[in-house]
Amino acid sequence: MLVNATEMLKKAKAEGYAVGAFNINNLEWTKAILLTAQENNSPVILGVSEGAGKYMTGFKTVTAMVKAMIEELNITVPVALHLDHGSYEGAKKCIEAGFSSVMFDGSHYSIEENIEKTKELVEYAHSNGISIEAEVGSIGGEEDGVIGRGEVADADECKLIADLGIDMLAAGIGNIHGKYPANWQGLDFVALEKIKEKTEGMPLVLHGGTGIPEDMIKKAISLGVAKINVNTECQLAFAEATRKYIEEGKDLQGKGFDPRKLLNPGFEGIKACVKEKMQLFGSINKA
Ligand code: 13P
Repeated sequence: MLVNATEMLKKAKAEGYAVGAFNINNLEWTKAILLTAQENNSPVILGVSEGAGKYMTGFKTVTAMVKAMIEELNITVPVALHLDHGSYEGAKKCIEAGFSSVMFDGSHYSIEENIEKTKELVEYAHSNGISIEAEVGSIGGEEDGVIGRGEVADADECKLIADLGIDMLAAGIGNIHGKYPANWQGLDFVALEKIKEKTEGMPLVLHGGTGIPEDMIKKAISLGVAKINVNTECQLAFAEATRKYIEEGKDLQGKGFDPRKLLNPGFEGIKACVKEKMQLFGSINKA
C-alpha cells in the first residue's frame, strides 16, 4: 500500500522504533525491499536519490514501477516512495510524478534560504497529500577521496525548520554517508538530545545508517530517531554476493549467465541486509 510517511513515522516515534529507508537503484532492488517488508510485516520507505531517479530513466518511471509492483506482489504493508536529498526543483518534480514523500535538502543554503524554500515546498507537498523531510546541518561523507565530518546541526535552527510543519527532520549529528573512517568519533548524542528537546514530537531522521554500531542505533532511536537511511550496506551486500557467484564460475555453468540467475545472489543479499536492519530498528510486525 503506497502511503505518505507521516503516520508510519508518528507511530514509530510513539512506540520507540525506527522505519528503515532503503535506497533503490533498479527493479531487483525495489522487489527485494518490498518483499522483505511484506515477509516481516514491516513498514518501509523506498529512498530514491536524484541520481538513481535519472538512472532509472526518470521519476515517472520509478513511480509507475513501484505502484505496479505493490499491486502485482500484493504488498499490503505501508510503503512510502520518498525522494532522498532532493533539490528544490527535484522535490517539485517528484511531487508531480506521484511520489508519496519527498526530502528537500536545503542544508547547503543559508538558514534563511533553507527556511524560505522548505516553507514553500511544505505547502506544495501537503496540498498534494505528500509528506516532507527537511535537513539542518550537513551529513558528512566521502567525496573525491575527501572525508567530511559533516556539520552538527544547531538545535535552534532545527526548531525553526521543524516549526514550518515538516513531517520529519534530518539533523546532522556527526553521521556520514558511506563507510565510516577508522577514526570516526561516533554520533553526537549531546547534540541529538538538544535537538530532540527543541523539536519535541518531531520524528528525527538518521542518515548514513551503514556501519553505525548497534548500540548507537538503539540510543539514537531512544532519543527520537524514527527513520534511518541505509544505502551503502545494501550495495556492498549486492556486490559481494555477485562477486562470489562469478568467482565461483557459476555464470559459466549451464545457463548461469542468465541475468535472472546472475542477479539472484545479489537480490538475496539485499533481502538479508534489509531484514537485519528491520530487526535492529525494531520495525518488524509494526505494519
Ligand atoms: P549510507 O549509504 O551511509 O547507508 O547512507 C544512506 C543515506 O543516508 C541516504 O540518504
